Amino acid sequence: CGIIGYTGHLDALKVLLDGLEQLEYRGYDSAGIALLSGKNDDRLLIKKAGPVSTLKDACSTLNVEAHCGIGHTRWATHGGVNDTNAHPHIAGKVTLIHNGIIENYHNLIERFDFRGSLVSETDTEVAARVLDYYYEGDPYEAIEKTIREITGSYAFCIMFEDIPDQIFCVRNVSPMVAAHMEDGSFVASDVTAIIPYTNRYFVIPEYQIVTLKRDGIFVQDLDGNQVEPEILEVNWNVEAAKKNGYPHYMLKEIHEQPDALHNTITPRLRDGLPDFSDDGIPDQVFADCDQIAIVACGTAMYAGMVGKALMEPLLKIPVSVNIASEYRYESPLVDEKTLVIVISQSGETIDTLAALRLSKERGAKVLSVVNVKGSTIARESDYVFYTHAGPEIAVASTKAYMVQLSSLYLIGCRMAMVRGKFTEQEAAAFVDQLLSSIPAVEKILEHKSRIKTAAGVLSKAKDAFFVGRGLDYAFSLEGSLKLKEISYIHAEAYAAGELKHGTIALIEENTPVIAVATQDHIYGKTISNIREVRARGAFVILITKKGAEIPEGICDIHFEVPVSDDRFAVFPVAVILQLLAYYTSDLKGLNVDKPRNLAKSVTVE
Ligand code: G6P
Repeated sequence: CGIIGYTGHLDALKVLLDGLEQLEYRGYDSAGIALLSGKNDDRLLIKKAGPVSTLKDACSTLNVEAHCGIGHTRWATHGGVNDTNAHPHIAGKVTLIHNGIIENYHNLIERFDFRGSLVSETDTEVAARVLDYYYEGDPYEAIEKTIREITGSYAFCIMFEDIPDQIFCVRNVSPMVAAHMEDGSFVASDVTAIIPYTNRYFVIPEYQIVTLKRDGIFVQDLDGNQVEPEILEVNWNVEAAKKNGYPHYMLKEIHEQPDALHNTITPRLRDGLPDFSDDGIPDQVFADCDQIAIVACGTAMYAGMVGKALMEPLLKIPVSVNIASEYRYESPLVDEKTLVIVISQSGETIDTLAALRLSKERGAKVLSVVNVKGSTIARESDYVFYTHAGPEIAVASTKAYMVQLSSLYLIGCRMAMVRGKFTEQEAAAFVDQLLSSIPAVEKILEHKSRIKTAAGVLSKAKDAFFVGRGLDYAFSLEGSLKLKEISYIHAEAYAAGELKHGTIALIEENTPVIAVATQDHIYGKTISNIREVRARGAFVILITKKGAEIPEGICDIHFEVPVSDDRFAVFPVAVILQLLAYYTSDLKGLNVDKPRNLAKSVTVE
């Protein structure tokens, strides 16, 4: 969910609606705003199921002069998608928006005897009711008593009807940032909503109450002691979060990949070798471990699959890839000799954060690969390797994946040097190959029209299968996720050799199979598997290295990637798979940047 709050001299309605548009990628089931007009403490509430544009339309005829308000864009957890369940929620004098999940809301309904009197089906309304129950004119006391009752994760943004021009915030786990400047004070779930006004902000500390006033922001702990927050600066500007002439953020972000790779790799090179001293990551971390556990969700986890396929043979130590939501509850075999690599674009994914905390409890050292500066995962890790993708707005991750890969390649390379698996010459050659992946990616972007043609076939399909072996299988997993999440075509990735153990039963005349075969040592094996699906009528889109020998009649469409070392094929292959998904979704007329039911940043379990 996306949260925005503002109090100051500007037109609050405009600030909130602009902010919600920026935050919409965090959730787009419904949206709402509440304004305190300041006149007779009037409170205005408008909330609508549907995208922010529906809310905007509903607000277009309003004639209000308000300078304080809160807004929300929802990704439904408790309760269906309708106007009533949208935020803000009002209870007595309290108006509240919330991101997170209140786990004990059923108990609270019983304990406070709310049954029968609730208007919505949400856990949020219950929190608003508890807060109103405790509110007797002292907001701090009411907030403190309320959060003592609540278990779960939350970021609350609250207005009290009788305290005009002020917004109160408190959070546990769910992210929220705040910023003050001449125009007033802002709070938001992430900096993208604040960046048009300032690049200086702070992360609201957990369990502290933040008061936004026109002339300043005040932070205090639960005992009432004033706290000085640590100010951070964003190193990208508002332009970076705009579409810049592209029809979709996703296409823009796909095109930003060469720059993102460059920005992530080159600052870490010294004399042509990876060097992380500016990141504050000592070599000891790489020397001391006897296994690596990679933990992440979604696309970041699939970047981890590539990381494992690269690192295990290189470092000759066990590397596991773990789905964070499983890892956190399954007692993983992690100890002080484990290097845990946490990967997260947002740095806020709740399961990944929980996995990080568990790993630290077990004594492991945690190195996180994170895109968002100052995010919770970054702050709680022992070491952070920031990716420099800039803001990623499209829900389907592209450039963040690309730079996560390059980070894992750099980390793998440094680790191989430290552990005596690479000589300096070998490491330098590896880095050269990594750098040459940038022009390889550019080349694919220059010739993207053929990919659009292939997408024409996919757009008519019900199912699609991605196959590959080894590293090719790891890339295929992400390719299949990309296609299914934005085109709604059922897609699965299979290790090519495993097909005949079940999945091949699903291959019919013209079923698309995207076969990735870039790895020399298993090329012949993958080709044999492609013959098996071909014999059953599959429409084969084949991706190989440039110059590979292609058997007659093996495929319908063939793409080549310009790489000399097989380990680096992932970079250009990823671009082909991203564009295939992108054009398929676009040809189907779907909402590419905001696919149904998904959200960019998942801060609930
Ligand atoms: C969501 C997003 C994905 C992302 C995943 C993990 O599912 O839609 O694009 O890969 O969360 O997010 P993170 O921010 O931790 O990388």
